[in-house]
Amino acid sequence: MSQPLRLGIAGLGTVGIGVVKIIRRQAALLEARTGRPIEIVAVSARDASKDRGVSLSGYAWETDPVALAKRDDVDVFVELMGGHEGPAKDATEAALATGKDVVTANKALLAHHGQALAETAEAAGKVIRFEAAVAGGIPVIKSLTEGLAGNEITRVMGVMNGTCNYILTRMQDAGLPYDEVFEEANQLGYLEADPNLDVGGIDAGHKLSLLSSIAFGTKVNFDGVELEGIQRISIEDINQAASMGFKIKLLGVAQLTGRGLEQRMSPCLVPADSPLGQLKGGTNMVVIEGDAVEQVVLRGPGAGEGPTASAVMGDVCDLARGFRVATFGQPAAGLKDVPTASSNSPAPYYLRTSLLDRPGAMAKIATALGDAGVSIDRMRQTQHDSSEAPVIIVTHKTQRRQLEEAIAAMRASDVMASEPVALRIETV
Ligand code: NAP
Ligand code: HSE
Repeated sequence: MSQPLRLGIAGLGTVGIGVVKIIRRQAALLEARTGRPIEIVAVSARDASKDRGVSLSGYAWETDPVALAKRDDVDVFVELMGGHEGPAKDATEAALATGKDVVTANKALLAHHGQALAETAEAAGKVIRFEAAVAGGIPVIKSLTEGLAGNEITRVMGVMNGTCNYILTRMQDAGLPYDEVFEEANQLGYLEADPNLDVGGIDAGHKLSLLSSIAFGTKVNFDGVELEGIQRISIEDINQAASMGFKIKLLGVAQLTGRGLEQRMSPCLVPADSPLGQLKGGTNMVVIEGDAVEQVVLRGPGAGEGPTASAVMGDVCDLARGFRVATFGQPAAGLKDVPTASSNSPAPYYLRTSLLDRPGAMAKIATALGDAGVSIDRMRQTQHDSSEAPVIIVTHKTQRRQLEEAIAAMRASDVMASEPVALRIETV
């Protein structure tokens, strides 16, 4: 019989237990596909007494994930704890230092330390696989590193945070305000322990930075992602967008231009009838454009026990077969260090603000836009009360820089009653 592939799994939460269940349930299928048994030899989590709904009695228990990572009887260290410092980083480094490949679902760890970890892995002749870290059950890393390897990738974009997509679609479908839906998402257990990772766009930014690295052969540059969360999206924005034939999505876009690497993760208006516009709930979608393939659209569950464990197992099966692709699809030392470029491609923008209801207020706003070279396409004053006049403006194509200049001039005027919300309109 072929030698089994022996796993050490650190982290027995949603994803870790999902992996244990697949390995127990599908042992024969996994062996048939990879040509060798896949076995768990040891596991680690914080609380050894917790009932996790599945028997762990056949596995050695390690209280310290670093000790687990160093075990001689482990071939592959599976890191499913999370966090970009502390045990996840220490144990991953320990695993590489003691000659193990690593499989992880941890986008935060790789967004912050991916370059150094990939170089360490390479020096040791090992790889780090992370399919589950981006877009849950969608095999997007495999698509980029393998199926699309013959393409020069021109653009990657998508909806990569299921929680934000759930909040935005629920606001739309039920007509509920942000705070109420946020609380609902919290009750349903959708939010990360630090909810700002989700609603602040940080988790999705981590994912985008990993896709960029593979797509463009560049060093992971999470600090270069222009980040904006969904916290300021109101039901008024959702309704106004709908009345114009748009939906609001937290959309990531990355492209390599002559000026450098553009990466932005921000709420945008997208056509309601486009594939992105029709995306509901926790589903993710990644759109990849390449010079030969033109456009590939991948859609699927972005989170949850089954989908994320499915992605982890795809990586484990590759390692069982002896199939190793470099961590970011090419040798880490060769990844380019390109400058960060602010995304300045022109687009129409949606602008919502509220003015003090007095003569000349609207004229001052129009002047601020005109002076910055921003042309108004449509303008609407809504639901006025005695003192404030909410205003919706849609601009013609403009650069974000010009819009920011206009917004700065608006703020400096004496007619603003609220901080403007500006959302890019993407015609994808
Ligand atoms: P989770 O349910 O919170 O589970 C985390 C596990 O790690 C728990 O079993 C916990 O132990 C263990 N752990 C935490 N700190 C530890 C330490 N110091 N030593 C040993 N064990 C420790 O998290 P999850 O949702 O499974 O997520 C795991 C990873 O997958 C994260 O990187 C996350 O970003 C990523 N991910 C998750 C999803 C998803 O849908 N959940 C999707 C994609 C990627 P106890 O159980 O004893 O507390
Ligand atoms: N918090 C993440 C999401 C989990 O909502 O998409 C999956 O990475």
